[in-house]
Amino acid sequence: MAAKTMFSCNIATAFLSLIIAKKCEAYDVMLKQSLVPDGQPLAIKCSLEKSLESGDYNLTWYKVGNQKAVPRDKLSRVHQQKDLIWFLPAMLEDSGDYECVIRNLTSCKKMCTKVTIFERIDGLCLNEKFAVKEVISTSSSAKAVCPHLDFFRKEKNIHPVYWYKDCQLLEGKRFVVSNSDLIILNVTVHDGGNYTCETTYTYNGKQYNISRDISLIVQLTPPKKPPEITYPRNNSIEVELGSQVTVDCNTTGADGFEVYWTGNNMNRIFASSYEGETSYDGRPMHSLKLIISEVSREDYEQPFVCQASNAFGQVASYIILKHRVPDIQRWLTGGLVSLLILTFITLIIYKIFKIDLVLWYRNSVCALTSEEDGKIYDAYVLYTKSSEGRSVCCLETFVRRILPAVLEKQCGYNLFILGRDDLPGEAVVSVADETLKQSRRLMIILGSETSRCCLLEDTSEQQLAMYNALIRDGIQVILIEMGEIRDYTSMPESIRYIKQKHGAIQWKGDFSEKSCSANTTFWKNVRYQMPSRKKVSYSEVHLLPLTSNSSAGKGS
Ligand SMILES: *[C@@H]1O[C@H](CO)[C@@H](O)[C@H](O)[C@H]1NC(C)=O
Ligand SMILES: *[C@@H]1O[C@H](CO)[C@@H](O)[C@H](O)[C@H]1NC(C)=O
Ligand SMILES: *[C@@H]1O[C@H](CO)[C@@H](O)[C@H](O)[C@H]1NC(C)=O
Ligand SMILES: *[C@@H]1O[C@H](CO)[C@@H](O)[C@H](O)[C@H]1NC(C)=O
Ligand SMILES: *[C@@H]1O[C@H](CO)[C@@H](O)[C@H](O)[C@H]1NC(C)=O
Ligand SMILES: *[C@@H]1O[C@H](CO)[C@@H](O)[C@H](O)[C@H]1NC(C)=O
Ligand SMILES: *[C@@H]1O[C@H](CO)[C@@H](O)[C@H](O)[C@H]1NC(C)=O
Repeated sequence: MAAKTMFSCNIATAFLSLIIAKKCEAYDVMLKQSLVPDGQPLAIKCSLEKSLESGDYNLTWYKVGNQKAVPRDKLSRVHQQKDLIWFLPAMLEDSGDYECVIRNLTSCKKMCTKVTIFERIDGLCLNEKFAVKEVISTSSSAKAVCPHLDFFRKEKNIHPVYWYKDCQLLEGKRFVVSNSDLIILNVTVHDGGNYTCETTYTYNGKQYNISRDISLIVQLTPPKKPPEITYPRNNSIEVELGSQVTVDCNTTGADGFEVYWTGNNMNRIFASSYEGETSYDGRPMHSLKLIISEVSREDYEQPFVCQASNAFGQVASYIILKHRVPDIQRWLTGGLVSLLILTFITLIIYKIFKIDLVLWYRNSVCALTSEEDGKIYDAYVLYTKSSEGRSVCCLETFVRRILPAVLEKQCGYNLFILGRDDLPGEAVVSVADETLKQSRRLMIILGSETSRCCLLEDTSEQQLAMYNALIRDGIQVILIEMGEIRDYTSMPESIRYIKQKHGAIQWKGDFSEKSCSANTTFWKNVRYQMPSRKKVSYSEVHLLPLTSNSSAGKGS
């Protein structure tokens, strides 16, 4: 009987072993990677389920690729003991994947972990590349853990742990070391950075240095409060009718879909969202645009409300569109500039058309209002009467024929030309003196190519005329040049003075019909300087005894 029982038991065991071998192929759990500097001790625990711990099981550590299990000899540098694998200390060549296989009567589990042993670079207190990343949040207190130390600190032969930040020993009220962990109080983003925890461990009478590098990342914890709207702030903006308007609604603390605009007539209005950033305290920021493509009358004075909400509350803020008030300063500036331009243009036009304007004005208005001054002649014509040379002949033609033809016949002026209008036998001086007093203008005609001798010699008539024109100043002078006169130095000083003061009109025409028209520039200039013609004067002239003679002379 007993032999029979033994037999069946053996069969059962063999059968079970077969099942187990088949079941344990894939990894069930991947354990955290271990990062340890060369020459430092390391212990890794194969994590077990609670249900396993109570029962009977076999646990074995392997280095992946090695058929042989890790030795259980406590004196071996790398050995396994219970569910732990020990590296005393870890060496560069220990880097690699390790697995632990857990078997009980009915199941098999496999776990895997990666071990990285790195070399400390001389002079560098910490190798960031191999630092363990830990994340904490801004809060009143947070904990940083000294990694891969769990199984040393349970033992009596571990020494106190020291914490460093950027290789400086951490001191102060905010930093507390508790059971090898670092507690940071009133955590801010500035607490993020490179940390190192250090201690020593004695095993079998040998002391090992332990130091672990941590890269601490501080996450912002958003405050638990309602969102805020930074814009609009219940304000108003000035917009023009028909213009396009865009208003941002900028919020902090609300989620994107919890921000929206409301207002009347929203069907013409489009809102476009802008994906926000994160504010300094970790809250989301959003910007939602209100776009009114064309402002209409109904849009004015009506609030457009932006609303934002989150789990802790809701806020709203509005904006009102107002009519744009006219910019007084702009209007003033514009008006002033246009006024200046207008004045400038007017001045230019006046400068160009001055003579025409004055002549036109005289024709239409002044003729009716011109005053009576008791003078007979409109102009006393003074010229060189000497009969030498050809040029004098031209001068005589101008004075005797053209001047009367234009000014007297066409314009109705009354001229006194010495030698034409004086009675024979009269003393030149007395005639000149008398006639000048009765003339409104003194017209001096200068020949161009005339030799010095004949050019306005200081005759008594001339002196008298000059005296009347310059000293008494009761008479205005019209200076006419026959052609261009380059050299004035030879002229009497009085002529030079007149030329300088009043300028001269230059005769460039010939003796053709065209030059005799009162509407040429030359004659317009002359007429401009002549007194305004009286309509009555023409008829008056005929009544005077002197004119009967003059009209006879005009034909020559
Ligand atoms: C073996 O382990 C599994 C869990 O992996 C557990 O459910 C089962 O009860 C265990 N068997 C024995 C005989 O302990
Ligand atoms: C554990 O291993 C030992 C020998 O290596 C073996 O005798 C025992 O039966 C195993 N136990 C289990 C539950 O596999
Ligand atoms: C932390 O901050 C609170 C108030 O913000 C302050 O009262 C307290 O003293 C701070 N604690 C430390 C350790 O700085
Ligand atoms: C951590 O140290 C590395 C040098 O090892 C340095 O480049 C890096 O800026 C440091 N990080 C912080 C957050 O200070
Ligand atoms: C441990 O570190 C100390 C200095 O911190 C050093 O003097 C000592 O040699 C180190 N021991 C080992 C075994 O590396
Ligand atoms: C704007 O007005 C609303 C009420 O209409 C009010 O709740 C809100 O606090 C105001 N916001 C600001 C910034 O004044
Ligand atoms: C709203 O936020 C956007 C994006 O941050 C910014 O460009 C814009 O100037 C802000 N608008 C106002 C009115 O503050």
